[in-house]
Amino acid sequence: MKILVIHGPNLNLLGTREPEVYGRLTLAQIDQKIAATAKTLQVEVECRQTHEEGKILEWIQAAPGGFAALVINPAAFTHTSVAIRDAIAATGIPTVEVHLSNIHARESFRRHSFIAPVAAGQISGFGQESYLLGLRAAVTLASSQSEHSS
Ligand code: DQA
Repeated sequence: MKILVIHGPNLNLLGTREPEVYGRLTLAQIDQKIAATAKTLQVEVECRQTHEEGKILEWIQAAPGGFAALVINPAAFTHTSVAIRDAIAATGIPTVEVHLSNIHARESFRRHSFIAPVAAGQISGFGQESYLLGLRAAVTLASSQSEHSS
């Protein structure tokens, strides 16, 4: 089983970006932790980051077939992107939305997610651990879907 992890805009700056909000780990360190968790779960994982909404749409559209589930931190696109929401809905790929910070405890514009209604669930507020919990959730989700379809 292969899981796709997408990091949205500005997440390349983790480590130095508002560390009191997002923690001190770099994106590369988070990706290493994701890879280590994937190993213990005996799944493959591919992590990608971009600032471009269009690239995220292309990755989501191409994901079914190659990937069993998606873990996505859409970052600022969470609060703006109907297009990412529509791509997830169109492909039907099992999706877990993750955020390092608790978006519900911050500015009011961060409380709304366009992605949440088409995701299986949202994990928000656990720092780097949000990704690891998200990966576990995605594997559980994809396993239960493949059981139902076989
Ligand atoms: C974020 C929360 C978003 O509101 C913000 O725009 C981000 C990061 C998080 O992981 O906490 O870039 O998705």
